[in-house]
Amino acid sequence: HRHLLGIRDLSPQDITLLLDRADRAVALSRQPEKKSATLRGRTQINLFYEASTRTQSSFELAGKRLGADVMNMAVASSSVKKGETLIDTAMTLNAMRPDILIIRHASAGAAALLAQKVGCSVVNAGDGAHEHPTQALLDALTIRRAKGRLERLTVTICGDILHSRVARSNIVLLNAVGARVRVVAPSTLLPAGIERMGVEVSRTMAEGLKGADVVMMLRLQRERMAGALVPSIREYFRYFGLDAEKLRLANDDALVMHPGPMNRGVEIASAIADGPQSVIEEQVEMGVAVRMAVMEALLDPRRNESEAR
Ligand code: CP
Repeated sequence: HRHLLGIRDLSPQDITLLLDRADRAVALSRQPEKKSATLRGRTQINLFYEASTRTQSSFELAGKRLGADVMNMAVASSSVKKGETLIDTAMTLNAMRPDILIIRHASAGAAALLAQKVGCSVVNAGDGAHEHPTQALLDALTIRRAKGRLERLTVTICGDILHSRVARSNIVLLNAVGARVRVVAPSTLLPAGIERMGVEVSRTMAEGLKGADVVMMLRLQRERMAGALVPSIREYFRYFGLDAEKLRLANDDALVMHPGPMNRGVEIASAIADGPQSVIEEQVEMGVAVRMAVMEALLDPRRNESEAR
C-alpha cells in the first residue's frame, strides 16, 4: 500500500504532480456540484488523537467530494479512554477493511508505525513535532497560485519552530522545489541544528523579513511548552509578532500565511491576519483540494500511471 508519511518521501516531481492534481480539485470544489466518483466504494477512517479543526474537517470533505465513505473515529469517546493502545485501536479499525487511514497523533513516528501494521494506505495528518505533509502541500499550492511559482522565492517562517511539524514539512518541501527558506525565532524556540535543514537563521524580524516574498507565522504552541520558553506574551508579540510595522520590512507584495489555529495578538495582529496581504482563508480552501489530490494519488494508481505517461 502507498502512504504519505512525510514530505521527505516525495520527489520534486511528485510534489509538482500533486499540486497540479490539487489545482484540478480546486476547480471541482468551486462548482455547485462538487462530487467526483474517483473513490466511490472506498472507505476512509479519520483517527485524530489530537484536536483539529482544519485538517480533520478538510480530510472529511475531501473524501466525501471524491465519493468515499468517511468515518470519523471519535477518539475522546472511544476505548482509547479505557487504555487501548494505538496499535490495538488501529488493528481493530484495520479489521473493518478501510482503504485509507488518516492519523494525527502527539508522538513523532505514529503514522509510520501504523503504516507498518495495517493493510491500507496511511496519511500522516500531523505526528508530534515531526511532519504535517498535507499542510506543507497546501501552503505550497497557496503560494504557487498567488505567485505563479515556488522557485527562487524567499519564504520566512517565524515563531515557534521548535514545536512545529508545519515548519519542518515546509522547510523540506520548499528546499526541494528551489525556494529559499529563512526562519526567525527567539533562540529558545529554535531546534538545535536547524541550520542543517538548509535554512538561514535570523534572531530578529528586521533581518528575517527583509526581501521576503512570503511571511509564514506559526502558532506559539503553549500546550507543548513545559517551561517558560518566552518571557511574556506581550514581549513575544513586541519582538516576534507580525504587525503592520514589521510587515513593511518584507516585500510590498509579500503574502501573509498562518496554518491556524491563530493566537491573535500573540504571533499575529488581527489587522494583519484579516488584511489585504493575508491568504489565510485561501490556505484553508487549498487544504481540501490538496487532501483530495493526496487521497486520489494514493488510492487510484490507474490515474497515476496515466499521469506518468
Ligand atoms: N493547520 C492545522 O493543522 O490546523 P488544525 O490543527 O485545526 O487541523
